[in-house]
Amino acid sequence: MNPACLRESFEKAGQGQVFRFWDQLDETSRAALLAEAAEVNLAELKELSAMVVAGKASEISGVSLEGLGPAPYVPLPENGGDAAKWKEARAAGEEALAAGRVAAFVVAGGQGTRLGYDGPKGVYPATPVRRASLFQVFAEKLRAASKRYGRSIPWMIMTSRQNDAATRRFFEENHFFGLPERDVIFFPQGRMCAVDEKGKILLASPSSLAMSPNGHGGSLRAMVESGATKLLEERGIDAISYWQVDNPLVHIVDPAFLGFHVLSGSEMSSKMIPKAYPLERVGHFCTQNGRQLVIEYSDLPAEMQQERTADGKLRFLAGSVAIHIFDRRFVEKMGGTSAERLPFHVAHKKIDCVDEAGRPVKPAKPNSYKFEMFVFDALPAAKNPVIVEGRREDEFSPIKNAEGVDSPATCAKDQLLAWERWAKAAGVPLPAAQKPPFWEVSPLFADTEEEFVRRAKAGEVPPVAEGSVLL
Ligand code: UD1
Repeated sequence: MNPACLRESFEKAGQGQVFRFWDQLDETSRAALLAEAAEVNLAELKELSAMVVAGKASEISGVSLEGLGPAPYVPLPENGGDAAKWKEARAAGEEALAAGRVAAFVVAGGQGTRLGYDGPKGVYPATPVRRASLFQVFAEKLRAASKRYGRSIPWMIMTSRQNDAATRRFFEENHFFGLPERDVIFFPQGRMCAVDEKGKILLASPSSLAMSPNGHGGSLRAMVESGATKLLEERGIDAISYWQVDNPLVHIVDPAFLGFHVLSGSEMSSKMIPKAYPLERVGHFCTQNGRQLVIEYSDLPAEMQQERTADGKLRFLAGSVAIHIFDRRFVEKMGGTSAERLPFHVAHKKIDCVDEAGRPVKPAKPNSYKFEMFVFDALPAAKNPVIVEGRREDEFSPIKNAEGVDSPATCAKDQLLAWERWAKAAGVPLPAAQKPPFWEVSPLFADTEEEFVRRAKAGEVPPVAEGSVLL
């Protein structure tokens, strides 16, 4: 759109204040402002700001608890699941992998700020001995899977404006951790602008809008808009394995999970893990009006999170660990321009901005509404969704906080405990100096207990000493 038309569309939408300082801006600042303005979907923003103005901001995401029940899921064989079905699913998943139908996708728009680290979160050192970054761990898991199934597994990485350049640089400096460069696809996520109580877009400076990332739900749009889904289509890929950058234990390529997805003709499948304790801060898999959905811990009343069934089990047991498989065509639909799109969630926040005279304002109380999409909100729109149980100790130990729960220390311990279990299953003796013993297994050496045991049986596991790294 040319600059005059763009400005006119903002005027018409009642957002002309965005260009209030136009006459005072030099050419470079004008170009920057126009580029940001072009990112705004005015029709979408009109709907959202109308809700804000009507005092209905809290209704934007439409979270309702009416008729809510726990979602059904496929239990693990050791928890009552049908072992034959798991076997069948695994075979179907392996077939899909060997046919090259699978891509990987990590959402890595976040920074390590909460960990006291100023850079892309994926660069954060995650493993106990090598201090390998989260990105390196994922790359090694993908290399291992790609070797096993004889096919490359393209890896999409969603960055943000803030960390896109730093993320790409990190991969280049590390020679893509041994992955073929053409198989690593970066794209930044979209942004949304913040509005004030009157629904007007706030300016961060005379030449820029107050904008922030549009949430991990923006990943569906970003996949489509960046052309990534097109690329996958050309490569014959229809299953996308999705995870969050904070969890190094994730099974990126899990054949049984993939198999359940494929065999059910599912558009979106999710991994569930029983909550560790009633108020664990995870999403909850629920059903409502015959559809499945995730209700975030912050939206589910504490008494419901703690509710128990007659046999004493938690009624809402199924925690969402943000691991999903998407059908590519479903992503194209939900992330495209069709009427079906993810709802927005709104947050009332303090945002630094400039006033009508261009003076900086540091608000003392919330002055703005920010909008974000959550990827799990795609679940109710998916045909034949399946939720499959995973093992916490093998698959989920996120690094979220600098200390305490879900911290670098708990995650390192969980990795060590997993390798200790693998060694025990394989009959491999470990040094006894520390509990759990301090050593490391790279995913390139073994990415699952099964693979570790296989290698041990083949006599391929060397003696392990304190600080050993099996590569
Ligand atoms: C999230 C989930 C929660 C789940 C838990 C499991 C939400 C709202 N909640 O909580 O249901 O049980 O993880 O660990 O997501 N990200 C982007 N762009 C954004 C926002 C986030 O890429 O705009 C990425 C981050 O890099 C991170 C992930 O999304 O990988 C999670 O975001 P975060 O806000 O940390 O969610 P949690 O509160 O941890």
